[in-house]
Amino acid sequence: MRVGVLTGGGDCPGLNAALRAIVKQAEKQDGHSLAGFRHGWRGVAEGDLLDLTREHVRNVLPLGGTLLGTSRYHPSDEDGGIDKVLETLRSERIEALICLGGDGTIGAAARLSERGVRIVCVPKTIDNDVAGTDRSIGFDTAVAIATEAIDRVHTTAESHDRVMVVEVMGHRSGWIAISAGIAGGADWILVPEAPFSLEEMCSAIRHRHRSHASYSIVVVAEGARSRPDGPEFGAPTGSSGSTVAGAIGERITAEIAERTGFETRLTVLGHIQRGGTPTASDRLLASRLGLAAADAVGEISDSAMTALVGDEVKLVPLEEVAGRVKAVPRELLRTGFCLV
Ligand code: F6P
Repeated sequence: MRVGVLTGGGDCPGLNAALRAIVKQAEKQDGHSLAGFRHGWRGVAEGDLLDLTREHVRNVLPLGGTLLGTSRYHPSDEDGGIDKVLETLRSERIEALICLGGDGTIGAAARLSERGVRIVCVPKTIDNDVAGTDRSIGFDTAVAIATEAIDRVHTTAESHDRVMVVEVMGHRSGWIAISAGIAGGADWILVPEAPFSLEEMCSAIRHRHRSHASYSIVVVAEGARSRPDGPEFGAPTGSSGSTVAGAIGERITAEIAERTGFETRLTVLGHIQRGGTPTASDRLLASRLGLAAADAVGEISDSAMTALVGDEVKLVPLEEVAGRVKAVPRELLRTGFCLV
């Protein structure tokens, strides 16, 4: 069987580990050959591919990014894009696809699946907001990076008696903000799942500085928004549909400085959270999900996604995943808000 492989959407550490597992497992299955598409779905639409072999995945386990390249191109966004994809699959005799991606890539896979293409998706996004899986590839590394940054910001905040605002990624969910906020000991955490009150936060900061501390750390997810009863407050989205990095952080920083009178500074972590070598946990998760995809792609009759469910890797139907967002659960929100 000739199987196409693509990595789509935002890159993240761990993608190459998953590709390595896919290639190694596919080579053990008689008759499997892999076509690696460059730059996600755009490579399929344009027929931009390479024969993906063991040579391409040697020593890639610790490498961030994706050796295939990626893009935010989605075939349904272009007139005739879906037909271009179907024509490439036909002409290249590709019988199934393995798609590593987040919500956008998975959504495109669902549409191709409706046109009869057999697809196994592998969930990856530092946002960890793919439904159906307890973890997505890249999340653990992003939390580790953000936690280290918050640790570092503590020392400068304490030295200057400042409020330090740290903006992290996560435009639809606050998984990174709540996780790194707890791990990094933040004093206030703002996430999309819990619209905030500026006055409530500033009042808490004033109280904290009056009673026992001379500095504060505020962690804000780029997609956090204010409560409807307060001033309209949320980051605009840019041309690519992603949140404009720094927008919410700048507004929060200015408001805190004005309302408390404390020196306030902003650090926007941005794409640093997606860079560099994956943690051991992400390498392990990527290897497990990638191998499961290579095993499944020749067996499935309906499109599916490999998923971590508890301690096990399972296959979940793609139709149960596409178009859904996995929000931060109440227990984790409560833990974050109790410990600030
Ligand atoms: O989807 C993952 C993500 O990193 C989001 O957290 C972020 O908002 C977005 O990608 C940034 O997109 P881009 O890399 O296209 O600027």
